Amino acid sequence: MAEKKRLLIVYYSRSGETEKMAEAVIRGARDDAIGRIDVIVKSALEASPGDVMRASGILLGTPENFGYMSGAMKLFFETIYYPCQEHTKGLPYGLFIRAGNDGQGALSSMSRIITGLSWREVAAPVIISGKFHEDRLGACSDLGMVLAAGLDAGIY
Ligand SMILES: Cc1cc2nc3c(=O)[nH]c(=O)nc-3n(C[C@H](O)[C@H](O)[C@H](O)COP(=O)(O)O)c2cc1C
Repeated sequence: MAEKKRLLIVYYSRSGETEKMAEAVIRGARDDAIGRIDVIVKSALEASPGDVMRASGILLGTPENFGYMSGAMKLFFETIYYPCQEHTKGLPYGLFIRAGNDGQGALSSMSRIITGLSWREVAAPVIISGKFHEDRLGACSDLGMVLAAGLDAGIY
């Protein structure tokens, strides 16, 4: 039997709002309708190059801090970049971002690094900006579901 595909979700949250987004993403990815995907969740502080190399798809979540991705997410990229660069080209990915302003600093800083990794964006980023609106969490669970269902169906 073919090995189960693995969706890796890596995120960081200090005050809990990105974590709420991550919980919704995980819920979507683990939807009962999608049976054959392993969903692995790691903090950006602990995810390793091996985690990324074993993944069939990846979702990354961070708050925007000081106009950039969080320090933890930057540490993640610093940890995995060179070990993974030649081995993860084309990895399907999506992003979720929590920001007090518009989140463009976090988005562009991550996108620039991911361009160097040659990963493949397969879903639009979900950004909750300004006041935290719980009703945007549906877009987060959709993001998780889209990645998991796409892997399950062999689309990515
Ligand atoms: C030190 C610090 C710097 C921040 N800088 C920005 C920023 O540059 N742009 C922005 O949109 N939000 C900024 N914020 C707001 C955070 O993105 C927001 O509080 C977010 O909800 C934090 O996510 P978390 O609850 O997952 O930790 C900053 C917050 C902190 C604590």
